[in-house]
Amino acid sequence: MNHLSGRTVLITGGTSGIGEACTELFARSGAKVVAMSIQPKEGAALAERLTGEGHTCVFFHGDVSKEADVKAAVDLAVEKFGRLDVAHSNAGVLRNQKITNITLEDFHLVINVNLLGPVLLAKHAIPVMERQGKGVICFTTSVAADIGFPEHAVYCASKAALVALMRSLTTDHSPKGVRFVAVSPGTIDTPMLAASCAGWDKPKEELYADVARKIPIQRMGQPIDVARTVAFLVSDDAGFINGSVVHLEGGTLALPPW
Ligand SMILES: NC(=O)c1ccc[n+]([C@@H]2O[C@H](COP(=O)([O-])OP(=O)(O)OC[C@H]3O[C@@H](n4cnc5c(N)ncnc54)[C@H](O)[C@@H]3O)[C@@H](O)[C@H]2O)c1
Repeated sequence: MNHLSGRTVLITGGTSGIGEACTELFARSGAKVVAMSIQPKEGAALAERLTGEGHTCVFFHGDVSKEADVKAAVDLAVEKFGRLDVAHSNAGVLRNQKITNITLEDFHLVINVNLLGPVLLAKHAIPVMERQGKGVICFTTSVAADIGFPEHAVYCASKAALVALMRSLTTDHSPKGVRFVAVSPGTIDTPMLAASCAGWDKPKEELYADVARKIPIQRMGQPIDVARTVAFLVSDDAGFINGSVVHLEGGTLALPPW
């Protein structure tokens, strides 16, 4: 299986957790990858590691909520590799609090990264893909779009909005060759998840074991689970999957409400 060989892929949040696994899998599958994030040290190290293995990966230091940065990342992919086949809007942030305690600073951060970021990526990637007559945009949403996570109202809203955004883009732009998909992970073992354990009354390992027991498949997800799914969804083998959300949550959404 080498679906991505020779393709140019731009991924946001491509240097940690789910995005890092995607960057590695895409590059090792022969794609030319531009990984964008706000982690310059990790990004440089990742690009160096993959380049050292003989793969093609460039790190771009940029903020997805800044239009100039997103445009520059798209331009970099096109100038360096001649085209943009896949854009994976994956960068995200998590902030938890009850809505009665939310600060406008946290609200704007979550909405700017989780919703404005994908809007800007779509705005700048779609014209390139329409000119090519072909391209795929993948969004990383979350089961938080479907489940009422306690004390995560704005995060949940941002991820549900992303699904609505993707569906609408499909009606506007798929007739010109752009395909849209979303992955909706459940609980995935990443730095974001680890950070969310702060303040609980148990060590992370115990919390993770409790969570794993609640998931029908009896384990948490790993970043590579998501990366493999994205690699399939953006490939031509998934060419008739459009405007769809693929859940990867070990059966969490199948649980009965008792
Ligand atoms: N880990 C989970 O359980 C889980 C579940 C469902 C969905 N998700 C989603 O998956 C995506 C990746 O999450 P993760 O768990 O790998 O988190 P992570 O914290 O490990 O990685 C997030 C990445 O986003 C980047 N980022 C953050 N703000 C940015 C900005 N303003 N501009 C550019 N890049 C920025 C970070 O630098 C990092 O590379 C997020 O959208 C998250 O909401 C995660």
